[in-house]
Amino acid sequence: MISGEPGVTVPDGTLPAPVRRELEGTIGRLLAPGKGLLAADESFSTIGRRFEQVGIASTEASRRAFRELLFTAPGIGDQISGVILFDETIRQRASDGTPFPRLLEERGSVPGIKVDLGAKPLALAPGESVTEGLDGLRERLAEYRELGARFTKWRAVLVVGPGLPSDNCVSVNAHALARFAALSQEAGLVPIVEPEVLAEGDHSLEQSYEATLRAQRLVFAELVAQRVSLEHMLLKPNMVMAGLQHPRRASVEEVATATVRTLRSTVPPAVPGVVFLSGGQTPTEATAHLAAMNAAGPHPWVLSFSFSRAIQDPVLETWRGDETKVAEAQAVFAEHARLTGLARRGPAGRDVS
Ligand code: 13P
Repeated sequence: MISGEPGVTVPDGTLPAPVRRELEGTIGRLLAPGKGLLAADESFSTIGRRFEQVGIASTEASRRAFRELLFTAPGIGDQISGVILFDETIRQRASDGTPFPRLLEERGSVPGIKVDLGAKPLALAPGESVTEGLDGLRERLAEYRELGARFTKWRAVLVVGPGLPSDNCVSVNAHALARFAALSQEAGLVPIVEPEVLAEGDHSLEQSYEATLRAQRLVFAELVAQRVSLEHMLLKPNMVMAGLQHPRRASVEEVATATVRTLRSTVPPAVPGVVFLSGGQTPTEATAHLAAMNAAGPHPWVLSFSFSRAIQDPVLETWRGDETKVAEAQAVFAEHARLTGLARRGPAGRDVS
């Protein structure tokens, strides 16, 4: 029980006090003012596609070299509060033999891990997917913790289209997200719950709004039903935008307003932070949208970022697998991370925490 005013006690949920304290410590570090998360957890197929676009062969060695470039960038801990790793990456080492999770801790970034096993076709639901990876998850979480992870991520993918996402697809993915979150909290790892309404498609901003609202409502209903402590998790949502193939791009204000409306309608104030994915936006767009949302604050939750493409794309473009370009690519990374960190500021430049 938590003691507040004299004589007043409120139940504090099912997590033991030491686990709660550990989760709160990790969340405090992840949401530190002016910083955000780097998602460096691309699966083999995703990193393969990104590398191919800039002419790099995806091998164990090239993936390790790229991640080392990112994690040893000067000042990474000043801009990046936490890094989401992939199963291969959490087991790799820097050139000097330091395991990546230890390297990140030493530089002031919390190591985390993507624990889902990817989106697989959902039976009897053409075009839709369900994210798998719950079998054996308790044991995998224990191993990741041993390897140094202090937070976790699970991504569900929802496609917008005629009649999509279906209620069935939203429901099975919300259920899985909540089971993942409960297991993570039990293991002392902060869950990042990511229901991503995909930006791919020609849908309107209104359709994205409606799908995002529906998904987040159901996700929170499942989280509550499965006793997940809302105070000890982070939400990683998409921003509400027209599809990337839609003829009209919405303004920065329209995206910010629609996104904040979905959050206000669905995310309880108990949730400490919302860390957005970039979802195919350019770094400039993603940063402008986040800045506009924070300028419209204060909000009950910290609004921050957990970008992959919107931070890494310009870095990859510069590096292109060329050893002589490492320092230049690291400077690009530091500059993008700094600009994105500025978007954490609230009204009149106040840092929101
Ligand atoms: P993007 O920022 O490239 O959308 O990736 C974030 C992420 O972690 C997707 O799961």
